[in-house]
Amino acid sequence: MYVLGIETSCDETGVAVYCSERGLLAHQLYSQVALHAEYGGVVPEIASRDHVKKLLPLLNLSLQQAGITKFDLNGIAYTSRPGLVGALLVGAAFGRSLAWALNIPSIAVHHLEGHLLAPMLEPEQPAFPFLALLVSGGHTQLVTVEEVGKYFLLGESLDDAAGEAFDKVAKLLGLPYPGGAELSKLATQGQAGRFHFPRPMTDRPGLDFSFSGLKTAAINSIRTNSPIDLPTKADIACAFEEAVIDTLVFKCRRAVLETGLKILVLAGGVAANQRLRTEINSMMLQQDGKTYYPRLEFCTDNGAMIAYAGYQRLRSGVYEPLVIEVKARCNLSR
Ligand code: KG4
Ligand code: ZN
Repeated sequence: MYVLGIETSCDETGVAVYCSERGLLAHQLYSQVALHAEYGGVVPEIASRDHVKKLLPLLNLSLQQAGITKFDLNGIAYTSRPGLVGALLVGAAFGRSLAWALNIPSIAVHHLEGHLLAPMLEPEQPAFPFLALLVSGGHTQLVTVEEVGKYFLLGESLDDAAGEAFDKVAKLLGLPYPGGAELSKLATQGQAGRFHFPRPMTDRPGLDFSFSGLKTAAINSIRTNSPIDLPTKADIACAFEEAVIDTLVFKCRRAVLETGLKILVLAGGVAANQRLRTEINSMMLQQDGKTYYPRLEFCTDNGAMIAYAGYQRLRSGVYEPLVIEVKARCNLSR
């Protein structure tokens, strides 16, 4: 079974082909980062228009890379929620109409389900049930994954997502958009201990997060130290990253202790953070557990994770009518 995956929820156009027998056969990604950089963030209308331009060429490249034609496809999966409505509509209209023209089924995929299942694209896969920490630009969630399609939310951010906090602090440090990876790079030059930021909500029970206060604390330090020199910027970046990671690790440890689950999946854009991977890994080893994460390019948005999630749905015979519907916000369980 050949499944085409389409991702257009934000500023990345991703197209991929997943084969039930041979695994991932093609994966094409176009990032709009350069297009939005001058605005310091994603401009939704520009994002939608660029997805329109890139989808068809990326489809052709994917089919070529997979060594198949569009007539070999058995299903099409596309991201339908959550995300930028205009951007989602481009992928949804493209996916549904191509499937209709080819007379094959199409399936609307939840973007976060794609992130959650991305480690399944790796040679060594986690066994169900497992815990997952989803850390992206829009979400920070702790989830139990019982099987494909059975997700239970344990806790989430009550305000900013971890990636969003990274991006906002990075912007004030004068780093280019999207700032997460840039801030992390700068943090490696910083001196630990010069600044100390709070570990929000670690002093109360539960598995929810809050990153807005921590972000404000970092922003206040940037302002009180202005005009700010490069070493101070690096020290703030280092302390901020450490506080976010400590908080994430703390909540993950609590989730492991509360659920008894010994497998943790790290997914979403912030899962590309090397320091987070290392810290989560060593915490899980202390708990006699194991961590799984996708390769770096499958942490951030991509079509491969959508193709895989779609394949899992299509193989169970799910049928969806020819309706094009997208949602800006939507819980994973719906
Ligand atoms: O999953 P993703 O590509 O898009 C969403 O679904 O939101 O995640 C993007 C987020 C951005 O906030 C970006 O700054 C962050 O992931 N990110 C990182 C790193 N690489 C990407 N944050 C911290 N460290 C990184 N190395
Ligand atoms: Zn994402």
